[in-house]
Amino acid sequence: MRSLINILDLSVEEIDGLLNVADDIIANPVKYSEVCRGKKLATLFFEPSTRTRLSFEAAMYELGGHVLGFSDAGSSSATKGESVADTTKMVNCYADIIAMRHPKEGAPLVASMHSKIPVINAGDGGHNHPTQTLTDLLTIRRKKGKLSGFTIGFCGDLKFGRTVHSLIQALSRYENIKIVLISPDELKLPSYVKKDVLQKNGIEYIQTTDLESVLPELDVLYMTRVQKERFLSEEEYIRLRDSYILTREKLVKNAKNDLAILHPLPRVNEISVDVDDDPRACYFEQALNGKFVRMALIMKLLGLKAD
Ligand code: CP
Repeated sequence: MRSLINILDLSVEEIDGLLNVADDIIANPVKYSEVCRGKKLATLFFEPSTRTRLSFEAAMYELGGHVLGFSDAGSSSATKGESVADTTKMVNCYADIIAMRHPKEGAPLVASMHSKIPVINAGDGGHNHPTQTLTDLLTIRRKKGKLSGFTIGFCGDLKFGRTVHSLIQALSRYENIKIVLISPDELKLPSYVKKDVLQKNGIEYIQTTDLESVLPELDVLYMTRVQKERFLSEEEYIRLRDSYILTREKLVKNAKNDLAILHPLPRVNEISVDVDDDPRACYFEQALNGKFVRMALIMKLLGLKAD
């Protein structure tokens, strides 16, 4: 039995294999429509979600399986004080695989230690979000045709942004990636990610507070939301929330014609809606890709193949 807690739980070969299966699902969806017949996915979401939970559920339905779970910790026995370990043991009685989101960093890891069925980390606090990373990698590969030899800018909340931490970890294993970190001083990438991932792997990176000055260099721009729910002070959130707003005007003036703009979503103000129709905007397609790559992941962790 295998779980996915951190993107580094998968080798580069395994990630490439998952992306290949996702590409095949996109091309041949009918081939996969019965693969999970009789299997059940439990979605245990202790924190709000639209894309991750619904794409996991759609993924399981499109594989012919079933879904159970909760989308609000308030409707679960966590409100009565039940531990993550006990909840996991219970769900082992009812499902074949678990997708868990939790505000506490490490909660899905704890769940995996008490589980006989695979546990997938669907986002834990400001820590990791490995299935978003698979989604991001699939989107970059489908747009750029490769996962090496490009410059990617991460913009916004790099401190609490778990999607940023996971994607940087994943990209550190590919060749010739250059990283541009764009954030206010208060929301810089944590030192442990810089030291343990970027410096340790010899990844070239720069830090700046100015998006417009670096925009012309970028092949991929990964925008992120300033996350209200991670701030202790609302005043501080209000001061920082509109640090970066990508507009069509800035794109036309400064960006490459083949730039790929990603965002894990939800967006608030950081990408103006007038960017949505620009061919460089990939974020809605990215959300769709999340369903296909989660289908591939569910199959892999359950040991199931289409043929
Ligand atoms: N990208 C992402 O995790 O979105 P949700 O919070 O809606 O699941």
